[in-house]
Amino acid sequence: MADPRPIGFFDSGVGGLTVLREVLRRLPAESTVYLGDSLRAPYGPRTDDEVRRFSLQCLDELASRDVKAIVVACNTATAVALPDLRRRHDVPILGVVRPGATAAALATRTRRVGVVATTATVRSHAYFQAIKDEDPFVEVYEHATPDLVPLVEAGQVEGPHVEAAVAEALAPLFGARDGRGEAIFPLPPAERIDTLLLACTHYPLLLPVITAAVGPGVAVIDSASATASALASLLETNGLGAPAGTTATHVQLTTGSVRAFRRIAERLFGELFPAVEAIAVPGAAA
Ligand code: DGL
Repeated sequence: MADPRPIGFFDSGVGGLTVLREVLRRLPAESTVYLGDSLRAPYGPRTDDEVRRFSLQCLDELASRDVKAIVVACNTATAVALPDLRRRHDVPILGVVRPGATAAALATRTRRVGVVATTATVRSHAYFQAIKDEDPFVEVYEHATPDLVPLVEAGQVEGPHVEAAVAEALAPLFGARDGRGEAIFPLPPAERIDTLLLACTHYPLLLPVITAAVGPGVAVIDSASATASALASLLETNGLGAPAGTTATHVQLTTGSVRAFRRIAERLFGELFPAVEAIAVPGAAA
């Protein structure tokens, strides 16, 4: 059994392209429809109600395009809205939290994992819960880094300004102290994380800067390849893989600026996706 229909991907903006990239590496025969709600990004500072409502609207749009499965390639939407999204649609819907949490729990040797994510994701404690489900002995330090998504959405992923923003965002996880010499994050001074989980799909676009900032003793991991593996096994188990010899097609839709979206897409994929289309999702009027 095989299924030629595309797989839908959803993110608040361009971040989910980091998941799409891993999926295409692994499943090159699959066709895809990607929807980035850049007009309303970032989702991270929004209320849970807004994240839920916007995510439902975007998934309605993807579902109307006859996709065979949907990857919610957004940690914020996964953390806040996954049960609601699954309740509404019959297609299999994969999130990114569980695959990332499993990868982090398996990667740490010292059982200390730092999780950087949006404010809404940290507020949900979805990662704390998912990592503890995997291994209750892992200490999880969740830290919101809200300044990074706007940089990525603006196409700023390198340079001194980005390096300074990343260093400042990560400092509390690595024992930064306030003016009175107090640690500004509840990480015991003698203990260091050995694994940093990028729990926002925008952050891998900053990977070279983040890796340089944390130094060699810390493994930096994200959800993308674990999610691609989960998707591959979902398709295989359910006989949903693309038929042999299929020529894959890829469509990328954005509620925001086509030009800004294309700049990031081309950085990630070269000329593979020349056509990015503007789309109006009901409720997301410009
Ligand atoms: N890329 C998204 C995530 O993984 C959302 C970032 C945002 O819109 O704030 O959380």
